[in-house]
Amino acid sequence: MFDRTFHIHTIGCQMNVYDADLMANALMAMGYRPVADPEAADLAIVNTCAIREKAEQKVYSLLGRLAGIKRRRPEMRLAVGGCVAQLAGRRIQRRAPYVDLVFGTRAIERLPGLVRRLEAGEGPLSDVGDGDGVMEIDGPRHAVLQPTVSRFVTIMQGCDNFCTYCVVPYARGREMSRDPGRIVAEVEVLVAAGAREVTLLGQNVNSYGNKEGLCSFAELLTRVAAVEGLARIRFTTSHPKDLSPALIDAFARLDKLCDHIHLPVQSGSDRILARMNRRYGRQTYLDLVARLRAVRPQIAITSDIIVGFPGETEEDFNQTLDLVQAVGFDGLFAFHYSDRPGTPASRLTPKVPMAVKRRRLDALNELQNAAALARHQALVGRTVEVLVEGASKRSDPGRPGDDDRVQWTGRTSSNKVVNFSLPSSADAPSPEAGQLHRVRIEAAFAHSLLGVWAPDPAGLKGEACHAA
Ligand code: 5AD
Ligand code: SF4
Repeated sequence: MFDRTFHIHTIGCQMNVYDADLMANALMAMGYRPVADPEAADLAIVNTCAIREKAEQKVYSLLGRLAGIKRRRPEMRLAVGGCVAQLAGRRIQRRAPYVDLVFGTRAIERLPGLVRRLEAGEGPLSDVGDGDGVMEIDGPRHAVLQPTVSRFVTIMQGCDNFCTYCVVPYARGREMSRDPGRIVAEVEVLVAAGAREVTLLGQNVNSYGNKEGLCSFAELLTRVAAVEGLARIRFTTSHPKDLSPALIDAFARLDKLCDHIHLPVQSGSDRILARMNRRYGRQTYLDLVARLRAVRPQIAITSDIIVGFPGETEEDFNQTLDLVQAVGFDGLFAFHYSDRPGTPASRLTPKVPMAVKRRRLDALNELQNAAALARHQALVGRTVEVLVEGASKRSDPGRPGDDDRVQWTGRTSSNKVVNFSLPSSADAPSPEAGQLHRVRIEAAFAHSLLGVWAPDPAGLKGEACHAA
């Protein structure tokens, strides 16, 4: 048995993280083992993202660095997967001739065969073809790149919405949903391997199963919630136009469903929403927020916003600021618009100058950070339930309020990151990843909370509680 190594560098969304674990599991079944350092890899894979120009630029700069390794170790094989691979195909090898394999988003199931051909000395290779229907990859689901306690499960692939700015329908193809029985079986396998939380993934989970006549997304959630040993369920992403009354009702019915929904609004201006082909207006969005809060008052709502979409005026942008103020988002991913080749918006005019996009992005982030900080400060002094993920990375040790005691990290049901320390008593507990425990919040920041492990009142441990 040979001993070969692989390294995967993933750029982009959670779906890419899930795909990277599929690739890793397939390679491990072939006798490969993962290494953290590409210098030590026999096979290096770059798992790419095409959503914005910046992500695509990152791919080529990373490939340049990997080319340096390959010059020193010509036997290393270099592969490019993901959305840029799907869209650019062999053009990648024309620009970066040292790339041995390009494989698209629907070619992951064929990766073992492609790697065997590389091993046999073939190449350069390219596979950006479709599969037969929805991609199903059987076999183990070791957590190679994700934390064991919190796992992603892709429930559908592709997107049929064609928002005018978005490259996803071209990079990931038509929408296809996986069979609910296979999804539940996968969740059971993950829970048996130590998962306590799953996040169900799709470009638009609210339309799950519609096309194929499978069960509805709300029914799927009910089936996943019945998996014993699973404590928490999350999902992403929801398109507002498809958020059904049944899904809102699921927040009332299902305790395991976390206090969080990611509901991208993209703009607060009806005129821009129409130009984006979003098929809802600002009032519809505000009504959805009110209905969600009516059934789950503590629900955290996060969103995506694009500023500087072609034709966006100062008045349109003010409508966005106004909506952000009105909703009170718990978190916001704000981007300046970038043209993606082949999308309808790339042909729309007038373009908004970069300096204006930057100014609008700064104004939006400033408003949001102040609002998020205020929402988080309201939690100081309260006790929240946290799913312990592991030791804290302490990426920013100089941060005010942070101190040497910070040792652990986890998330609330509302998806807020909580870094916490243990009490300084002699009989301090020893947290374990996967534990649900109470943490008293001592300080708040725009993107995280800081706390201390609180005593565990009898009977509360392990139960879902909606404290945040
Ligand atoms: N430019 C800027 N942001 C974009 N997004 C998608 N396409 C573009 C683009 N061309 C953002 C949207 C989406 C998120 C994942 O990325 O806000 O919800
Ligand atoms: Fe892109 Fe719109 Fe589909 Fe989301 S719903 S992936 S923004 S086309």
